[in-house]
Amino acid sequence: PLPEAFRKPLTVPPVLKPTSSAGGTDTYEITQREATAEIIDGLRTPIWGYDGIFPGPTLVTRRGRRTVVRHRNELPVPTVVHLHGGRNAQRHDGYPTDQILPMSGAHMSAHHGGGDVSHGTRTYEYDTDQRAATLWYHDHRMDFTGPSVWRGLAGLHLITDDEERALPLPDGDRDLPLVIMDRSFAADGGLRYPSVDKDLVKTPGVTSGYEAGVLGDVVLVNGTPWPYKEVDAVRHRLRLLNASNARRYRLRLDPAPDGVPEPFVQVASDGGLLARPLTHPYLDLASAERQEVVVDFSRYRVGQKVRLVNDFGEGSTRQVMEFRIARKAKDDSHVPRTLSVIEPLDPGRAVRERDMVFQSKSIGDNHGWTINGEPFSVDHVHAAPRLGDIEIWNLYADFHHPIHLHLVHFQVLNRGTKEPGRFDHGWKDTLDLRPAEQARIITRFDGHRGKYVFHCHNLEHEDMMMMGNFEVR
Ligand code: C2O
Ligand code: CU
Repeated sequence: PLPEAFRKPLTVPPVLKPTSSAGGTDTYEITQREATAEIIDGLRTPIWGYDGIFPGPTLVTRRGRRTVVRHRNELPVPTVVHLHGGRNAQRHDGYPTDQILPMSGAHMSAHHGGGDVSHGTRTYEYDTDQRAATLWYHDHRMDFTGPSVWRGLAGLHLITDDEERALPLPDGDRDLPLVIMDRSFAADGGLRYPSVDKDLVKTPGVTSGYEAGVLGDVVLVNGTPWPYKEVDAVRHRLRLLNASNARRYRLRLDPAPDGVPEPFVQVASDGGLLARPLTHPYLDLASAERQEVVVDFSRYRVGQKVRLVNDFGEGSTRQVMEFRIARKAKDDSHVPRTLSVIEPLDPGRAVRERDMVFQSKSIGDNHGWTINGEPFSVDHVHAAPRLGDIEIWNLYADFHHPIHLHLVHFQVLNRGTKEPGRFDHGWKDTLDLRPAEQARIITRFDGHRGKYVFHCHNLEHEDMMMMGNFEVR
């Protein structure tokens, strides 16, 4: 039986304190370990958590402060930490074969990809020389990202800056992160995932039959099934992250406030603030996408219950969470007409255009997901831009593929013959590509040299090799 909806309050992952903040650098320590969580009343769910919690603790960094995160791997398998949306040096980006071997089985060998392997611990250094944005960190181990994230290896990493702090947007406890994930549970409370090997050592990471990705029937927000949240009848900033392996959501407020057909005022996307706010009747979120919206709960009556629902769901996954309008309160916040400045990249300055085709293909007896017909290989480089080059990529898809590029953020030029979609504005790092669709994106490969991955963020597609390399030279 499924847990009961709207019975437990929403919790917010704790903000991690640095162990030192000397000399412009914030240093953090995180231990990856097995733990149990009470996700369903009365049952203990074994998880893998950053500091033993699911989702992991939230890191909050100010732009310009170097951030050093020392990860200790007390899990039984190798791990890799990727800061999604981070513009970091290659050796700190979490390349799938740059693995942290377990503290205890240091004898365990890493993936044969011959990456830059460390023993027990690894220190990731982040420049934080980038715009304020809602980033997240998660496991990225070769072949096993899907099951590792499913077990709990995901958390938020927020970057703030002076421009964003100066805006009169809702803040403090009116700035709410909402990490949305679907999961399924066994009767004893254990997480259910169709692994070939429950120890997550033998490949592949997922059994055949899950070519479309693994979906759950329970929707968790910040780790709680269908929670409720009491809110003051004031504006709130909601930082939405779809951390699901494969599920896409179309979120809507039910009921919509009287006379407000477009109650979501979007202020930011993957790469931070939009130039100007956009209003939406609903929000589409594919795996790994973020959207930040302001919702004005003063449009509702005190005592009213407002559901966040998922129009793409079926049965139990149609519900996400419930807001309970608790009391009137003073509100000094507002959404200004101008949020930030976004320089549009000029297609005329692109030095080349590339096609990237994301499609399924049989590889021997197996079904696989490929890019330009190639399954992932550490040695195959799909693109080698020079540092600073602006390129246009034409992305083609046979199925739903949320396409993610490491290192860079991009802008969407068009979707086939159409204008960019409603949710394609601002700087993106993940694009929801729909079946038989083409999208044109433009980006500048700058910041760092080195080899980075780009891939489908349906985590099962990623584990089934829908990943490629670009190397900035
Ligand atoms: Cu969110 Cu390559 O990952
Ligand atoms: Cu895909």
